Amino acid sequence: MGINQPFLGPTLEMHDGESVQMNVRSALSETATVHWHGFHLPARADGGPHQPIEPGGSWTAEFDVRQRGSMFWYHSHAHRRSGPQVYQGLAGMIYVRDQASEALDLPNDYGVDDIPLVIQDRAFASDGSFIYSTRMRNVMMGMMGDTMLVNGVVEPVFEAKTDRLRLRLVNGSNARFYRFGFDDGRSFHQIGSDGGLLEAPVQTDNVVLAPGERAQVIVDVSDGRPVSLVADGLEIMDMGMRGMGGNRGRDMMGSDRMRGSERPMGDWMNGERESRGGMMGGGMMDERRRFTILDIRPAERRSQVITMPRRLATLPRIDPTAAVRTRRFVLEMGMGMRMMRGGGFTINGRSMDMQRIDESVKVGTTEIWQVENASMMAHPFHIHDVQFRIIDRDGRAPAAAEQGLKDTVVVFPGEAVRLLLRFEDYTDPDLPYMYHCHILEHEDAGMMGQFVVTS
Ligand code: C2O
Ligand code: CU
Ligand code: CU
Repeated sequence: MGINQPFLGPTLEMHDGESVQMNVRSALSETATVHWHGFHLPARADGGPHQPIEPGGSWTAEFDVRQRGSMFWYHSHAHRRSGPQVYQGLAGMIYVRDQASEALDLPNDYGVDDIPLVIQDRAFASDGSFIYSTRMRNVMMGMMGDTMLVNGVVEPVFEAKTDRLRLRLVNGSNARFYRFGFDDGRSFHQIGSDGGLLEAPVQTDNVVLAPGERAQVIVDVSDGRPVSLVADGLEIMDMGMRGMGGNRGRDMMGSDRMRGSERPMGDWMNGERESRGGMMGGGMMDERRRFTILDIRPAERRSQVITMPRRLATLPRIDPTAAVRTRRFVLEMGMGMRMMRGGGFTINGRSMDMQRIDESVKVGTTEIWQVENASMMAHPFHIHDVQFRIIDRDGRAPAAAEQGLKDTVVVFPGEAVRLLLRFEDYTDPDLPYMYHCHILEHEDAGMMGQFVVTS
């Protein structure tokens, strides 16, 4: 399945402030949708499960582009079929450009020094077809594969002709979480998160992305040495470490790792995964592996001195006191039979129901959404229509790379993450937007809810 081609779709380029009309015609044999992930737009143009495109049918979405410069993406959001359809290829990238970010001294020549990378793991059958299965394990953990496709290609090589490269990463995988870095350990700068540039570049040697999340990074290749962007698949299951291993974990890892033993998933952010690898080995943990994403071959050695802009963007201050109310969202997974019979993946105890509006928010207001994870797995929580800010994780301020504009946020087992959302405009009392887990098998299994924005 693809869009204008056999697999994935073309990269769309849009400019902040312009109006677009998207004409989608379906030659598929099943109902599909096209959702503009990360966009602030009217619900009728959102492309969620309420905008189905029947086989042979068509759908037109009209909206104004009101986004900061960033990389967004579009993908199928068909009711209970997002997983298989995205897996088969119904997805593509969207570049939004805006004046402020274009004016910065950053690489922005598409395909030359500004490279989009759609990261998707896939399983192949011996005849070359995709394997997509919803046996229990693939529903619970999400569908994963052992072969990496980057922009639909296996083992891509990029010949760099410039000193700096801007890589725009989207984790377009159904379920796998990754930690990206370079095989020689070199540091780089993260400059953007889901919905725009960060206020200032963040120097780091790794970026963690869950399904749905994006990042922009700048890497210096002026030393002329070949280097590979690599990704470690991350464990997303908390095998009861809190219950059984609190003290043991503390002893093994030192008292300063107490936070890690209380909340094992949090260690990704701190780069402590390796130290726990042995304890977590086996069983559900065999998904952990390293993938090569992109082999970069610089044309020549230059040894230029690379400079980075000191400031990238100005973002509104995160002011929780502006919120008129707090809503709680508790993510849960029923295990075993309950899960397989359906109804096991819930938010606030309820599984997705197209006929039920779960939340109604008032336009022109700011709210806090507190997302709590009562399950044993990390879930990427995604909200349509808005770019939000992370206030805190269990009361602690988010890392610098998470202080920008976000539409998807990982919530670790046992964690409570507070988000600040502003519902600027676009009201519709009947047509809802979605919020859901972006592990697509969890979304399809019901870990999704609906909200309307009303006047
Ligand atoms: Cu990327 Cu509701 O989706
Ligand atoms: Cu979305
Ligand atoms: Cu999930």
